[in-house]
Amino acid sequence: MIELGSITGLKGKITIPGDKSISHRAIMFGAISQGTTKIRHFLSGADCLATIACFKRLGIEIEQNKEDVTIYGKGLHGLQAPTDILDVGNSGTTARLLAGIMAGQPFESKISGDESLNQRPMNRIIAPLEKMNANISSILRNDCAPLYIAPSQLKGISYLSPIASAQVKSCVLLAGLFAEEKTSVTEPFLSRNHTELMLTEFGADIQTSVDTNNNMATASIQPCPQLYGQEITIPGDISSATYFIAAGLLVPDSEIMIQNVGINPTRSGIIKVCQDMGGDITLINTRQAGGEPIADILVRTSPLKGITIEGEIIPTLIDEIPMIAVMAALAEGDTIIKHAEELRVKETDRIETITDNLKAMGADVTATKDGLIIKGGQTLKGAMIHPLLDHRIAMTFSIAALVAEGTTKILDSQCVDVSYPSFYDTFEELL
Ligand code: S3P
Repeated sequence: MIELGSITGLKGKITIPGDKSISHRAIMFGAISQGTTKIRHFLSGADCLATIACFKRLGIEIEQNKEDVTIYGKGLHGLQAPTDILDVGNSGTTARLLAGIMAGQPFESKISGDESLNQRPMNRIIAPLEKMNANISSILRNDCAPLYIAPSQLKGISYLSPIASAQVKSCVLLAGLFAEEKTSVTEPFLSRNHTELMLTEFGADIQTSVDTNNNMATASIQPCPQLYGQEITIPGDISSATYFIAAGLLVPDSEIMIQNVGINPTRSGIIKVCQDMGGDITLINTRQAGGEPIADILVRTSPLKGITIEGEIIPTLIDEIPMIAVMAALAEGDTIIKHAEELRVKETDRIETITDNLKAMGADVTATKDGLIIKGGQTLKGAMIHPLLDHRIAMTFSIAALVAEGTTKILDSQCVDVSYPSFYDTFEELL
């Protein structure tokens, strides 16, 4: 547990740990590539460490020295049968992407995680993988992990995904590496495209298109003879930067420079929302690094106003909605968030965890089926926060505590380790 109170004047330059989504992919793609992959600015959070542990269990040698990771890849067909269950911990990305790779292997595997992970929906990947002729099942027959996967020859499919999910898209594309024909995934709205960008760098043949009239995005992959190791520098995680963007906007008399943050347009909806809410936020020195756009983000304290957030922007800021909800409570006017039902199947049902904890702080917020209605102009009061081991809820309400009256206690605050182990240290740099 941590206790936090209100402060003013956050000032300084900070660097954010590596992007979680990109760190996972770098390990996975390096493991199934021929030759060495070197990763810089790797996120050493619990989720990405679970990915490393899984690939070690699949016979891959991986060396880690803090943010530097070297993977001695064994090629597309070089993984070995695991001697034990593949434990993905709390990580949905590991579970779902790994399932796509395991579906194409000539050996059996089992994937399982912690209590939260084993309650998250897996039918979203079981269904398309079965269409590809994969032999995959939910061991408890509840459409959740633990999953059992047995060998089978995969065939290429054209999959129309009912949801915009990078985990589903990536799972199917990764299985497509091992299929006999081309595989494509079409989703409503473009989800984060790190798999498409990075797998192309590793040598895969991937085509993408966006049908702007119908808001459909398609990614296709050809069966691949081989992938080749790469050198990758991982940008700072915009989802982690979000807490300090919000702190900079909300805490009086603040000015924060956040360096080297990934601003891939499939991830950067938070910037647009902050600007639409009236936030003083500027991108400086925009540049390309490792196939991804990055920038430094300058944030200054600003009065905020409520807005409506819906439609195609939602997948580009899905993990940032908890923090947006807190900003909304403090903004002038109401904020409505729609089309975000995916929040219900994250590490917690985030529509409920946001609502319960905001209410505990005295805010007026209503949970809807697919989002939130947040009354603006609220004064937040210190409270006991129950993140239910959800890292993003713990970090969100740690920022809320800085602008609340009185003391706020965050239960199990160490759960930030999942994506940002040094979260509370970054704070110290700004005091
Ligand atoms: C992720 C995709 C998103 C996101 C998650 C990471 C990824 O999940 O919320 O934190 O790395 O592909 P969905 O694919 O379920 O939308």
